[in-house]
Amino acid sequence: MSDIPAGQLVVRRLTHLEPALLAALVDYGRSALGESALDEWMLPVIASCGLLYVGRLGDEIVGSAEIIRCLDGDDLYLEGLYIRPEFQRQGFGNGLLTVVGELLSPDEFKRLLVTVSPENEAGLRLYEKAGFREIDYLPDRFGPGRHRLLLAKPLPGPAQA
Ligand SMILES: CC(C)(COP(=O)(O)OP(=O)(O)OC[C@H]1O[C@@H](n2cnc3c(N)ncnc32)[C@H](O)[C@@H]1OP(=O)(O)O)[C@@H](O)C(=O)NCCC(=O)NCCS
Repeated sequence: MSDIPAGQLVVRRLTHLEPALLAALVDYGRSALGESALDEWMLPVIASCGLLYVGRLGDEIVGSAEIIRCLDGDDLYLEGLYIRPEFQRQGFGNGLLTVVGELLSPDEFKRLLVTVSPENEAGLRLYEKAGFREIDYLPDRFGPGRHRLLLAKPLPGPAQA
């Protein structure tokens, strides 16, 4: 797959997950994120109540990203962005994050938040390149020893006349 340029990635929002697609997304998520992947109970909720995006090369889903709204404030929260292991390091993570950022409504929200493990070199590099900056350290965020950095990226805001 290394000869496929990142420009061929097509990003699509999914609002309904039929059973085979739901099962595939659960598998893909686990292959990239392990136990922290969203499961068959949460993915349909995000699809219908939040934003669920997939990045595709032709018919193949190579990665996904989920976004929810933080009800306290003007922030969005990026949950569980991943690229399937066999498609990593080809620019697709960067491509998916860029397109998803462009799809978000600039008028309503001020920041896009994400948490990442301090040991996740790939995630840190990806988010740093995309303009995210560390704003907090969240010890034991997901249980004992599962520390996270909270990163934020300002959203562009309404276009100036
Ligand atoms: C993080 C992730 C989405 C990156 O996807 P990707 O398609 O491999 O990333 P890209 O090819 O677009 O590379 C983006 C940047 O990250 C860097 N990068 C990618 N994998 C890396 C790794 N394993 N170690 C160090 N840097 C890495 C790339 O070099 C690139 O930076 P550069 O342009 O300065 O070279 C992917 O590794 C993944 O799905 N990981 C598991 C899930 C995860 O950690 N998600 C993020 C936290 S929720």
